[in-house]
Amino acid sequence: MCGIVGYIGHQTAREVLIEGLKRLEYRGYDSSGIAILNHEPYLARAVGKVAILEQLVWAEKPEGVVGIAHTRWATHGKPTELNAHPHRDCTGQLFLVHNGIIENYAALKERLREQGHTFSSETDTETLAHLIEAGYQGNLEAAVRKALQQVQGTFGIAVIHARHPDEIVVARRGSPIVLGIGKDEAFAASDVSALAQHTDQVVYLEDNEVGRIERGKFSITTLENRSVTRGTTALEIGPEAADRGKFPHYMLKEIFEQPEAVENALRGRVNHSEGVAKLGGLESVLDGLQKARHLIIISCGTSYYAGLFARYVFEALTDLTVETELASEFRYRKLNLRQNTVVLAISQSGETADTLAALREARRKGALVLGLVNVVGSSIARETHAGVYSHAGIEVGVASTKSFTSQLTILTLMALLIGRSRDLSYEEGNTILRGLEMIPDQMREILKQSDPINELAHKYSQAEHFLYIGRKYQYPIALEGALKLKEIAYIHAEGYAAGEMKHGPIALIDPAFPTMALAPEDGSYEKVTSNIQEIRAREGRVIAVTSHGNDKLGNLVDDVIEIPHTHEILAPLLTVLPLQLFAYHCAVLRGCDVDKPRNLAKSVTVE
Ligand code: G6P
Repeated sequence: MCGIVGYIGHQTAREVLIEGLKRLEYRGYDSSGIAILNHEPYLARAVGKVAILEQLVWAEKPEGVVGIAHTRWATHGKPTELNAHPHRDCTGQLFLVHNGIIENYAALKERLREQGHTFSSETDTETLAHLIEAGYQGNLEAAVRKALQQVQGTFGIAVIHARHPDEIVVARRGSPIVLGIGKDEAFAASDVSALAQHTDQVVYLEDNEVGRIERGKFSITTLENRSVTRGTTALEIGPEAADRGKFPHYMLKEIFEQPEAVENALRGRVNHSEGVAKLGGLESVLDGLQKARHLIIISCGTSYYAGLFARYVFEALTDLTVETELASEFRYRKLNLRQNTVVLAISQSGETADTLAALREARRKGALVLGLVNVVGSSIARETHAGVYSHAGIEVGVASTKSFTSQLTILTLMALLIGRSRDLSYEEGNTILRGLEMIPDQMREILKQSDPINELAHKYSQAEHFLYIGRKYQYPIALEGALKLKEIAYIHAEGYAAGEMKHGPIALIDPAFPTMALAPEDGSYEKVTSNIQEIRAREGRVIAVTSHGNDKLGNLVDDVIEIPHTHEILAPLLTVLPLQLFAYHCAVLRGCDVDKPRNLAKSVTVE
């Protein structure tokens, strides 16, 4: 979603800023813009890809060593040049970029209009530029603080002013801002990937804080102007982490990184001698976990499907009652949290607005709130009582892949940790652990089938509809497989619990409506086979994902993808890979923008 980069130093700002914007492209956006301070401040904005803005800027070659830039994902007002950020005040000296939503912008705008301010866009953001202008008396930081005190809603902002060429002022509430401090230069961004190639010394702003960067320096205060002391921390990811290497798309690279991502998720977390998992991030709350009776999992998108998987796993390995809820629904329910309820938020980015709001609600209600997050230092990671990082590495493709399998791995470890402190036996614990350790190599076997799966994509990619079915552990994978196909290949796909098929979707089945059936040889295999029979009887075409060597499906289905044998709890870690590859190859064949699918964002920071 929207991205912010700011630079102050000695390098040519246009180059640093455009490069930063490119690093943020993966988040999803529909327009972009840049402002640079010079004798005459420079502003350029464009609809569409950053490459279009880049051409403009390259042609005009604005000088200057201080500037801000933005990728916008439209919320208030269409994606037009005028609505793109940066926005200006009436004097044309102040420039501002903003992520988030100003909820009371209409009232503020009305008041500012009455005071004589003129607006040129339909955005909520422009109101902020004028609000700062209205309170400006020579001190930019003070004016920003005064303006933000009047604002309801969320913001991550960066502001520059022609009369203040030695500073950039930033602020945050609900939308991340990270500062990067280099030698005689400083950066601000909404996401570390925009500054990781320049410095590894970063500072995360907390909610309701205002930051000020100068060359090689920074300071932080609260919105009420209390000074905050905070040092820099060293960044863990290197700049090369986000390069595509030999792969044509980030998504394919990330699909192929899954064996390693699972290895990283397991590293140092397996204790064979006790048949249990060791999760350092949960040690401070082991008492609370010991007392836990109920678990509520909250998340969105692909992370929600990881949560659905977790429900089956926690129920199988522990005695907890488990609910999995969409964060966007959970936060609006009247919550009667029972005693000893633990809430677990799952999020790749750690910034998803609904998940963040839901966990805050759970905290307010007194629950112990845990996080399973990929991005280190993200808001969700910082606002939970304790948690586990998935360590999947930076994920650039908008459609989540390696984060998902990392999540499944760690959720299984969490269930083992709790299960073993209750009635799960040592043997059962160790069987799962041994199975988990085999997963990376088994994944490597599946990835070798990328070419045959590409051939299947040639056969099926013209379908306009697809049904995905699975039972029990495979049900969330059916949902995830269908999500992948619609997200990146724009094929309408429905994920269904196989048993529900006869309650609706079967009415749709005909030769033009194929089905992907998840049928590993597990406890539900016979039942899924019956569902496949029902589809065949309606002339539906079927691709089955089944266990290696199972030749019983031969006559029943059109195509088969085989996966290695594993424990049924762990099979989702394998069955999801062919579905990711299938969606990827279909998307490429259909000419879709795989890494940046239309209308989608990597990190959804609006509600
Ligand atoms: C967006 C992304 C999805 C992701 C979802 C939840 O919709 O496009 O890939 O699954 O957000 O994001 P999170 O970062 O909370 O896991």
